[in-house]
Formats: sequence, C-alpha cells, structure tokens
Amino acid sequence: MRFLITAGPTREAIDPVRYISNKSSGKMGYALAGAAAHEGHRAILISGPTALDIPPGVDFLPVESAQEMYEAVERYIHQCDIAILCAAVADYRPIDPAKQKIKKNSDTMVIELEKTPDILGSVRDVFQFEGALIGFAAETNDVEVYARGKLERKKCDLIVANDVSRHDIGFDSSQNEVTLIFPDRSEPLPKASKEHIALEIIERACIIQHNKTTKK
Ligand code: C5P
Repeated sequence: MRFLITAGPTREAIDPVRYISNKSSGKMGYALAGAAAHEGHRAILISGPTALDIPPGVDFLPVESAQEMYEAVERYIHQCDIAILCAAVADYRPIDPAKQKIKKNSDTMVIELEKTPDILGSVRDVFQFEGALIGFAAETNDVEVYARGKLERKKCDLIVANDVSRHDIGFDSSQNEVTLIFPDRSEPLPKASKEHIALEIIERACIIQHNKTTKK
C-alpha cells in the first residue's frame, strides 16, 4: 500500500521571525510513517517543523504553514491508497503577515486572524480522494462524541481519538492511549508506546482499504 501521512505542528507567520504554532511534537505521525515503511509499505511523510529524525525508508516532504501542507496533500494524495492526517494544523493564521520584523513601539497590539484551510475536510469534498481516510481528534472533554461528529463530517473511515487533558499521554509524550472510532463501533486500545499504536493503526488502515477495494 502507499500511505500519505501528515505530522507535526504548522507555523503561521506573524512576521519574518515570529509565528503562531502549537505543542505537537510530531511523534505519532513519525511513528505511523516509520511503522508503514517497516511493514513494507510506501510512505510519504508531509511534516511541519519537528525535532525528530526522519524514519528510515520514508519519503519526506517538509512544510511550514497550513497552506503549504494543504498544497502538498493536494499534490500527492492521488499517488496514495491510504491517507492518515495526524498533523496538528493551526486553526487560525494572521490575515496579513508583516513583511518586516514588527517593532515593539506600542504597549498593546492586535493581530487579526483568519481560518486556515481544513485539510482533512477537503480530502473527500475537494480532492475527491476515495481511498481509506483516517483522521485524529485531540479533545479535552466528551472525546467520543466530538470524534464521532468529526468522523461523519469529514467522511473518514476511522478517527483516532485521544484525550489531551491527560498529561501522561498524547502531546509530546512517548505513550498514548486512544479510542478508535469506526462508523459502526468504537474500540479502545490499551495504553502503549506510540510505535505500538502506530502499528495497530497501520494494520487497521490496510484492512479498511482492502475492504473498500474488494467491495467495488
Ligand atoms: O484540529 P482538529 O481536532 O479538528 O483536527 C482533527 C483532524 O483534522 C486531525 O486529523 C488533523 O490532522 C486534521 N486537520 C486538518 N486540517 C486542519 C485542521 C485539522 O487536516 N486545518
């Protein structure tokens, strides 16, 4: 199978040296790309800036902003069978980033923000991708309810939901405990390393894609 995987945070420029971003380490996405390659699949890893090493055997495409990630996904998704969108894409970006470094001349400042493109939400409706589509949902409350809503709205085959209110798992941690939300059921996975969870997700993604192609 050929996998497209997004990972890491995005950076949205305020001026040439400043940006808005988030605490995503990229570990889950890199573990997914590494697991896919380890299992003998092709993987294109489209990643925002992280401190991680590129997993062996993976095709790597670095990006910075949500817009760049959107364009990279649009460009490569049709070369792939399975898309796993794991990146923590910034939801908002400065409308008009300054061309030059902003000087600290005033005591307060206002930066006007606009929504970034919804990459996951574009995969079916804009890019017309028909392969297996897997998204992530990081929530602090009512995890399953929100994740199931996302599954339906974004036309995913699977949402991997995690509770980011817990400090022992999720953001920047090496361990994770997730619930897999399928259209017809939910399946909690026991707490494990991100590498182990990645293998489980890759395995299920292959089954989803296999079922899709044999149904046609
Ligand atoms: O931020 P949110 O919880 O809505 O993210 C859910 C999923 O949507 C994740 O899989 C994330 O990678 C994806 N996403 C995206 N483009 C965005 C925001 C989120 O692909 N602009």
